[in-house]
Amino acid sequence: MGSAQLVEWPEPIVRVQALSESGLAAVPASYIRPQAELPSLSTGVDAAAASIPVVDLGAGGAAVAEVAEACREWGFFQVINHGVDPGLVERAVEVWREFFRLPLEAKQAYANSPATYEGYGSRLGVDKGAILDWGDYFFLYLLPEKFKNQEKWPVLPTNHQQSKETVQEYGDELVKLCKRLMKLLSLSLGLDVDRLPAAFGGDDVGATLRANYYPKCPQPELALGLSAHSDPGGITVLLADDAVKGLQIRKGDRWVTVQPLPGAFIVIIGDQIQILTNAVYKSLEHRVVANAEKERLSLALFYSPKSDEVMAPMEELVTAERPAMYPPMTFDEYRLFVRSEGPKGKSQVKSLQKNHTYVRC
Ligand code: OGA
Ligand code: NI
Repeated sequence: MGSAQLVEWPEPIVRVQALSESGLAAVPASYIRPQAELPSLSTGVDAAAASIPVVDLGAGGAAVAEVAEACREWGFFQVINHGVDPGLVERAVEVWREFFRLPLEAKQAYANSPATYEGYGSRLGVDKGAILDWGDYFFLYLLPEKFKNQEKWPVLPTNHQQSKETVQEYGDELVKLCKRLMKLLSLSLGLDVDRLPAAFGGDDVGATLRANYYPKCPQPELALGLSAHSDPGGITVLLADDAVKGLQIRKGDRWVTVQPLPGAFIVIIGDQIQILTNAVYKSLEHRVVANAEKERLSLALFYSPKSDEVMAPMEELVTAERPAMYPPMTFDEYRLFVRSEGPKGKSQVKSLQKNHTYVRC
């Protein structure tokens, strides 16, 4: 794992939105995937997609077993009756739509660097010559408070202060939802309700938000909106556009396109949960395909452990037959992987795995 300081991007940053709006007919070479990664863009109804698990958070105790099954089988589920006000969700989406509609120069004022990723970005990782994703984003810190810097959050000409308040309120509500989900995950593993929250470092958790913007792509069959990856943190709560599909999840050796339910959030298991549960729950590999006809916006809230808390398999899930698969490491250390390498399938969490052969996992 490189611990070099990540200060600058290795190449000048090109905004995908600017490329897209320039009306070019072909994607530049730097976005073209090798054959093995080319997306399949079939529009047919996928049988597996129809069985994607949905957990009703308003249905009481039944949710525990549903979460257990979803996490073992898929590494993700959609939640409905989650209690987040739909009006707030709509306002949050509108803030980000408006941000990406600002003129390029206005957005450039928020240009980010790989040191913190905070702000307006168009690439993940600092590998020179890496194949790029067909998407721009805005990344910001919500928790811990000491990392939050609202000065760097976007100011919109039309609703100025209100936009920051909306983003804050959305973040607060989603963090609350994540806390509920962490308890549910604990119970679903047969553990004490507060076991996972405690393993995450109690109240000092981390939360970040990434608004992803995928502009129209002239050749979606050659590029990807977001490369295959697993999320490095604990859980991700994703708001995906139910009108523009794009998210695909890995199910065995296939990619399944997710059709989000209107009003639902998608919950994705991240690498820290895989490490803590000794791979009883595995993080989900996922990616985003590009779209020729429609732009797409998604909001990903990443909920992660206290950054200097040591993560290692929880002793309840370590047995003689299933010894600890991962060495202890803090999330700060782990995150450097991702910040330097960018999205790389599940190679980062796999590389941690101790050199044993675990046939059963
Ligand atoms: C992410 C992510 C999926 C999407 O931001 O990590 O996987 O649909 N996003 O944008
Ligand atoms: Ni992701």
